[in-house]
Amino acid sequence: MTASDPTGTVADLLCALTREEKLGLVRGTSDPEGAATGYVAGVERLGVPPFRLVDGPLGVRAGGREATAFPASLALAAAFDPDLAREAGAALGREAKARGQDAVLAPGANVVRVPACGRNFEYYSEDPALAGRLAAAVIEGLQSEDVVATVKHYVANNQETDRCRVSAEVDERTLRELYLRPFRAAVEAGAGSVMAAYNRVNGTYVTEHRHLLRDVLKGEWGFDGYVVSDWFATESTVDAANAGLDLEMPGVPAAGEDDAAGGASSEFDPEAGGDFAGGIPDITRGGLFGAPLGEAIDAGEVPEDRLDDMVARILGQMERVGRLDGDRDGGAIDTPEHRALAEGIAARGTVLLENDGVLPLSDAASVAAIGPNVRDATLGGGGSSETTPFDATSPAEGIRARADGAVTVARGVPPIEERSLFDALPFGDEGGGDEAGSDGEADGWDDEAAGDPHPDLDEAVAAARGADVAVVFVRDTATEGMDRDDLRLPGEQNDLVRAVAAANDRTAVVVNSSGPVELPWRDDVAAILEAWYPGQADGRAIASILYGDRDPSGRLPITFAAEDDYPATEPARYPGVDGRARYEEGLLVGYRHFDVAAVEPVYPFGHGLSYADFAYGDGVVVDGSAVGVDVENVGDRPGREVVQAYVRPPSVDGVERPVRELAGFAAISLAPGERRRVALDLDERAFGRYDPDAGWTIDSGSYDVEIGRSIEDVRTEVTIER
Ligand code: GLC
Repeated sequence: MTASDPTGTVADLLCALTREEKLGLVRGTSDPEGAATGYVAGVERLGVPPFRLVDGPLGVRAGGREATAFPASLALAAAFDPDLAREAGAALGREAKARGQDAVLAPGANVVRVPACGRNFEYYSEDPALAGRLAAAVIEGLQSEDVVATVKHYVANNQETDRCRVSAEVDERTLRELYLRPFRAAVEAGAGSVMAAYNRVNGTYVTEHRHLLRDVLKGEWGFDGYVVSDWFATESTVDAANAGLDLEMPGVPAAGEDDAAGGASSEFDPEAGGDFAGGIPDITRGGLFGAPLGEAIDAGEVPEDRLDDMVARILGQMERVGRLDGDRDGGAIDTPEHRALAEGIAARGTVLLENDGVLPLSDAASVAAIGPNVRDATLGGGGSSETTPFDATSPAEGIRARADGAVTVARGVPPIEERSLFDALPFGDEGGGDEAGSDGEADGWDDEAAGDPHPDLDEAVAAARGADVAVVFVRDTATEGMDRDDLRLPGEQNDLVRAVAAANDRTAVVVNSSGPVELPWRDDVAAILEAWYPGQADGRAIASILYGDRDPSGRLPITFAAEDDYPATEPARYPGVDGRARYEEGLLVGYRHFDVAAVEPVYPFGHGLSYADFAYGDGVVVDGSAVGVDVENVGDRPGREVVQAYVRPPSVDGVERPVRELAGFAAISLAPGERRRVALDLDERAFGRYDPDAGWTIDSGSYDVEIGRSIEDVRTEVTIER
């Protein structure tokens, strides 16, 4: 069945549905059970059941009920393992089904352009090949459980500042080679739904962007699922319907507003959100695809068959996941397998940035576990991705459970307070549970119960001085709807690290961040681990890495650098001026920029150390789109390596290209002494470039393929002739 040519049940339903019933299928309404994030009422007369959509990429947020709080997408990305991503998608699908949901509003596939973007933790990478492969794998996993995946936020939603108004001013080639690529991979993987973002692209809101929705997504790529708006992102009735939007969400004004048949039901002050100004949509707007759409069709402004196409796309996905066959049971939630998977992803995504040998810890070592939030699991960031776990393990708990030696715990400085979009919305957290990062405490900080009435720097320093090893946990805070102010660690954490490192030269630092952060003390400590937002298994996962039960096998999916050294730093580029963010850096985002910049990054793309040690043989060309290399673990511990391949295209007169592009990668585990041949399939689009006239083009010539441990640590090179 294709949307344009429905057959069978969908075709029959289209014939039987009244106009009013069709209009009820193309916009959301309130879920009578209060669990779904988005709810399409069914058509009882014809046996069409309701269709429920639920957040989000880090776990199922169904009416605030508990679910497994998986690690942030960035942590999953750092594992560089599509098989693991597919498992994560399948688990998310099972948990959604267990909560009676039919579609998950995940994965987030936006390319990381701005290091301070408040939602980087929900995305995968600065590189479109990595982001695309992982998004595709998550989608395959999700949909293998008969749940519709919704890849988001299509497209160029790369900042939270002013997200509901800003226009990304980006040339076609950059759109195609960078920002659209992960979404194309998602569509090729069979994504059943694409979420249209809040922002504008080159002056037009994506929810009414004919070129992006009809020409590219549905025309060129053949997408036959449905395009759903981000929540309250639908700007119009006629333009949106004719441009290719299929489903208006949430469809009704925010809770507590009159569920009128459309149109604004009260005044909306875009500045109402304070710090979130521009990051909060017009929540008084809803029902644009209700009566107004019917009137537009009657007036001949929207073709009747456009409404049929919208309905066919939605019913087509319902049919695809078996929803038209009636209620479905099944699914699973908070199973031992899901808990183990959440811990495994958190561990696999942990990146060892520095290590002078202080890690792994010996079991008998006495440890001072220090940090303002050391008694709290860092679940995730704020906003629609918030998940409420059944259980969570803090770093302090994880270390205490794993250590044989004495463990002292001290916060040292005041806790870092979470920020959340839900704090700024008048209807509160519609479906979120506790704020991300809490350990189940209702809110705030229970100092007395924590046995640590007041954070005291001297106490933390004394704890460090008295232990064999000090492990300091630091973090940032990030939320949907707002970008981080800068890349510095908030609060007094840098002072804490410096004071502890001065007291104990065996100090390791664990960073829980939403993306790149500045680490000014990196030369003063013995080891640094980047553990992102690890989810409910936080303490268990990090303890397994600290004590060497697992090899730190994460690699950086985004470059770490000094804030001013990134490409989008002038206001005209980010956050934009007069509502326009100019993507003047073009393709030179992330490592593509640092390859030609006069400055070095602090930690390059793909960087990550291991407790093992790996030797590489000479690379070989398998065929025109695959290379191979032998890798041996020459260390004395089991290890996991991420082998990476970067394509360096031939120079062509008059054609500017990035110096190198990630084309392939593979994560492998090797026992001490084990040697294995690793084959890397290369992403065809890493060889190509997009020519606005000729389309995708692969220039003939010699393509050097660099193979190694990161973009900087190249071990061998081969050449492929094209
Ligand atoms: C939010 C987010 C989107 C989420 C949706 C439903 O504003 O942008 O990612 O899925 O609305 O909560």
